[in-house]
Amino acid sequence: MKTNPFRKRTGILPSYFTGREKELNELKEIYHSTKMGVPGHLILYGLKGIGKTSLLLKFQEEISNLDDVYSVRIPLIEGNFDDIYALIIEKCSDNLDINISHFWEKINSLGINIPIIGGISLSREIPKTSPAVAFEKILNVIYDELDSDNPVLILLLDDLQRIMSNDETMKILSILQNALVELNLKGKNIMLVATGSEDIFYKIQDKLDSAVRIFEPCLMEPLSYNEVCEAINVPIKKLNVGFEEEVLKEIYELSNGIPYYMQILAYSCFEEINENNKVTMVEFEKASIRALNILAQREFKVLFSKSTTEERKILCLMAESSETILSYSYIKENANLNSEPSALLKSLINKNMIIKPSRGKYKLKNNLFKLYLQNLRINQETGLINY
Ligand SMILES: Nc1ncnc2c1ncn2[C@@H]1O[C@H](COP(=O)(O)OP(=O)(O)OP(=O)(O)O)[C@@H](O)[C@H]1O
Ligand SMILES: [Mg+2]
Repeated sequence: MKTNPFRKRTGILPSYFTGREKELNELKEIYHSTKMGVPGHLILYGLKGIGKTSLLLKFQEEISNLDDVYSVRIPLIEGNFDDIYALIIEKCSDNLDINISHFWEKINSLGINIPIIGGISLSREIPKTSPAVAFEKILNVIYDELDSDNPVLILLLDDLQRIMSNDETMKILSILQNALVELNLKGKNIMLVATGSEDIFYKIQDKLDSAVRIFEPCLMEPLSYNEVCEAINVPIKKLNVGFEEEVLKEIYELSNGIPYYMQILAYSCFEEINENNKVTMVEFEKASIRALNILAQREFKVLFSKSTTEERKILCLMAESSETILSYSYIKENANLNSEPSALLKSLINKNMIIKPSRGKYKLKNNLFKLYLQNLRINQETGLINY
């Protein structure tokens, strides 16, 4: 048995990392500028599985042999500001080899009340500082602990959207901006890179407007056909396995160039290799069902179960149509609905099942979801597909 070189889940580096030269160059440019005393900050945003976490990991790998650079990746979790402070401090002290007792002493003497894991909280009678000042002080202490003359501290905050639903922490970016501007003025070379879901930049822009001006937005696009081919061919060549060109094209089409889906499809194909170590369209047919079942269990089943009977009529119409995009009037005429489709379409968009690419036009979330719906009739009860 050959070990499958592809990944079934998100959040891990692929065995072969493809493309993203533009993003990596931008990150490196910001790093150089930060080192020269002109810090920059970036927000990478994009669809689920587009490769945000992997890009952060790849960037960390690429800068790991440079002198005076200290990078810490902080996967954010829901919580209030105290939780975020604690998370940043824990991650930094773990990753940057900072003497923790000494470090806590310094931070606590700043009057910031941070709960320590284990329950003891060194609270002081000093009034609570504003979050911007707290961040500034914490980052200042961390920076000053770094063991070189002109260090660059790179903070990689992964999954900003997790803390953006809360009213308090929603303002995180404008708060971080205030802190970073102060720190940068004091000559602390700190660069911040954050990632977030696709809608995050619009959310921020709506609510905070000019408050996000120090953050450069960078939308992560799907991979090109050539990049998908490279991501698949490089690892399988080493194992003397080959995928037919037709299969590569299908993977590209079905995944919409999204690395997460590409990896799951390639993983499933690899599980089906024939005795000649090849994957042809015959193996691909079996592999696509395998991939759909992985995704059914993880997301499609739950997604589908959230739809109402009326909404399902629209989903079925979209799944069965040979067109990707359907118009409002086509849906109205053909879906056999009991009411006007507008409210149903809006609800399907909110539930993240369909997308409205332009006015009066609708399509399914992605091609794999379409294939899932096409196969659904096979087993309505379990929401899974029979082999
Ligand atoms: N450039 C790339 N080349 C090849 N595979 C990649 C690339 N980027 C990401 N992947 C793979 O795609 C999958 C999804 O990547 P990743 O977890 O980085 O996405 P994400 O945008 O962080 O996802 P999420 O929205 O769930 O946080 C992972 O299995 C990863 O190994
Ligand atoms: Mg991620």
